[in-house]
Amino acid sequence: MKIARRIENLPPYLFVEIINKINEKRAKGEEVISFAIGDPDMPTPPHIIERLCQAAQDPANHRYPEAASLPELRQAVAKWYKKRFDVSLDADSEVLPLIGAKDGIAHIPFCFIDPGDVALVPDPGYPVYPVSTMLAGGTPYYMSLTKENKYLPDLNSIPEDIAKKTKFMWLNYPNNPTGAVANLDFFNGVVEYARKYNISIFHDAPYTEVAFDDYKPVSFMQADGANDVGIEIHSLSKTYNMTGWRIGMAVGNAEIIGALKTLKSNLDSGIPQAIQYAAIEALTGPQDCIQQHNDIYQRRRDLVVDMLRSIGLEVEPPKASLYVWAKVPEGYTSIELANDFLEQVGVVVTPGIGYGKNGEGYVRLSLTIPDAGLVKGLSRLAGWRNTKNKFRTKR
Ligand SMILES: Cc1ncc(COP(=O)(O)O)c(C=O)c1O
Repeated sequence: MKIARRIENLPPYLFVEIINKINEKRAKGEEVISFAIGDPDMPTPPHIIERLCQAAQDPANHRYPEAASLPELRQAVAKWYKKRFDVSLDADSEVLPLIGAKDGIAHIPFCFIDPGDVALVPDPGYPVYPVSTMLAGGTPYYMSLTKENKYLPDLNSIPEDIAKKTKFMWLNYPNNPTGAVANLDFFNGVVEYARKYNISIFHDAPYTEVAFDDYKPVSFMQADGANDVGIEIHSLSKTYNMTGWRIGMAVGNAEIIGALKTLKSNLDSGIPQAIQYAAIEALTGPQDCIQQHNDIYQRRRDLVVDMLRSIGLEVEPPKASLYVWAKVPEGYTSIELANDFLEQVGVVVTPGIGYGKNGEGYVRLSLTIPDAGLVKGLSRLAGWRNTKNKFRTKR
């Protein structure tokens, strides 16, 4: 048997390696506390589950769903965007429900990439952006996100010849893994850049509803002319604790949405209809669960930030997202620090290098760990010793 090079050349998915490490430790009977994966620990709110169960009982929902999904779901998405961001969308041509955001991210390059084409992707960034570009036969060009530039790409530093070969740019704010946020001035500049080089913009925005201290993230679709050049991919995963149900949406430019719809109608058979009804309930039902979850994440954020600082890691509390991005102490690489945490105190964090070259020097901790585990994990971290540079440990 010979597996295709496009699969053989893929790096192993970051979290598969981390899960394997955790399983190895657990198989030896060791207790491991993981801050590695951004999967909300709290359950989907009960009113959404009730609607799902009810819809599952209806035989009309046992059949193939329509590729474009239920019109009621597309309308619910359009209404949600209007209410939350004051963005108007045509539910038929500018909204496409997805099998989670990852579905859209993984497939959209196939609608745009021809041989020789380039895609601009953030580094560090969600690994699916470059991987799906490469699977579609394109070449990713990595835009550095650095602390000095508040983890926003410096568009002026992209070489002219690259910009001319570029088909699309990925952006993601609130950002995974850095927790950085973007404002409308930045997005307005992105639209101008897109117009100048005839580039499409794909903004991945699954964390706009996970925010702290009264901060309200903006949508790329609020920028002047955003709908002329791009789309936003959103998700119910993090907003409503629905990662397991696999539902998200792409909204924006009708030509881009139309291309994705054509591709997907050839590849998958839609989103299970009972889940579509659950999504309608999530988007149109009571929204107080969002603030309740954010209060919990904010409390956890503060505990994590305090502990990391007390053991000598530099860290800024994020305004949004589920992640704390911490600088590793001098003398460690991100993998060395992650391994040291695991070996010394049985705590798993994600090494920044897994998100790209510029992620080196950082580790990411997710706030999606139940309180009891979080407290235990943090007290274990308190017992961690910096063995590389004992004189510099701040304790
Ligand atoms: C930046 C980013 N985009 C997309 C996704 C995937 O979201 P979904 O569960 O909707 O596929 C994630 C999941 O962690 C993410 O961090």
